[in-house]
Amino acid sequence: MAPIDAFNIVQLSEKDIEQACLLSSQAGWNQTEQDWELFFRHGIVFGVFAAPEQLAASAAIIPYGDDIAWISMVLTKAEWRGRGFGTGLLKHCLQWIEARNRTAFLDATPAGEPIYRALGFVPSLKITRWQGSGKGSLSETLAQPTSHNVINQANHAFGADRSFVLENFNKRYPVVTSANTSTTCFVRDGRLAWQIGPVIGRDESEALKCIEALTEQLSGAVFIDLLDDCVNIAQRLEQLGFTKQRPFLRMQKGSHQSQQTQYQTLAIAGPEFG
Ligand SMILES: CC(C)(COP(=O)(O)OP(=O)(O)OC[C@H]1O[C@@H](n2cnc3c(N)ncnc32)[C@H](O)[C@@H]1OP(=O)(O)O)[C@@H](O)C(=O)NCCC(=O)NCCS
Repeated sequence: MAPIDAFNIVQLSEKDIEQACLLSSQAGWNQTEQDWELFFRHGIVFGVFAAPEQLAASAAIIPYGDDIAWISMVLTKAEWRGRGFGTGLLKHCLQWIEARNRTAFLDATPAGEPIYRALGFVPSLKITRWQGSGKGSLSETLAQPTSHNVINQANHAFGADRSFVLENFNKRYPVVTSANTSTTCFVRDGRLAWQIGPVIGRDESEALKCIEALTEQLSGAVFIDLLDDCVNIAQRLEQLGFTKQRPFLRMQKGSHQSQQTQYQTLAIAGPEFG
C-alpha cells in the first residue's frame, strides 16, 4: 500500500469516544469506554479520519508526573495500514513530548516495535501477557475507598505519579493486598477480560498469593501482563491453566532513569497504561 503524502492529524475529544472504542474493539483490544475516558481526560489523543465519522488511526499520550509521557493506543484500522498513519501519529506524539522535555515510554507489540526502533526508541523490559480463567463468581465491579498508602507505594514502584489511573482502577474493583501489606494487586474490568495489574511487591511468593486470591474471586477471562523475570509466578500461572498470549517490549526515548525502590513492579497495568 503506497503511503499518503499528506493527511490531517487532528486532536480528538470525548465526542469521538464512540469511534475510538470502535477502533480498539475491532482490533480485538481489551479497553473499555472508561479506559478511553482516562486518555481523553488526562491525556491527549490524536487521530486520522479516513472520512467524517470514520476514524482510521489513533495515538494517545498520557503525561505521568513531571517528566514521563506514556504513548498508548497506537492503532490503525487494518484496511488503512501501510499508508504512513502510524508513523505520522508517532512523530506527532514525539514532537509534543520532546517540546515538553519529557521521556517517551511505551510497551510495544511486535507489530509496533519496528516503527518505534526506527524513531530511536530503545528497549528495556520484556513482558508477557498471560491469559487464563477466574474460578470465582464475581462478574461485577465493587466500589471501595482509595487507600493513599497503596497508591503511593505503587507510584514509587512505577517511578512517577499516576494516581488518577490507580484511583480509577481501585474504584472499578478493590485492590487485593497481602496480609503483611508488602504486595498490592490492582485489577479492573476490560472489554474481553479482567486485567490484573499493576502488581507491586517485594517478592514473587507474596504476589502469587494475591494473584491466586483474585483468580478465586473473578469469573471469566483474566489477563496478566507479567515481567519475564518473574519466573516463579509464570510457572504457577501455567499450573493454574494460564497460557502465553503475546509479548510486549518496554521501550523509551529520552533520558529518564528509573530509581530502584524496595517495591518492584511484577506485573504492569497493561501496555496502554504502562
Ligand atoms: C503498528 C501499526 C499501528 C502501524 O500502523 P500503520 O498506519 O500501518 O503504520 P505505517 O503506515 O506508518 O507503517 C509502518 C511500517 O509498517 C509497514 N506496514 C504496516 N502495515 C502494512 C501492511 N498492511 N502492508 C505492508 N506494510 C505495512 C509499513 O510499510 C512501514 O514500514 P516502513 O517504515 O519500513 O515503510 C498497525 O500495524 C496496527 O494498528 N497494528 C495493530 C495494533 C498494534 O499492534 N499497534 C502497536 C501498538 S504498540
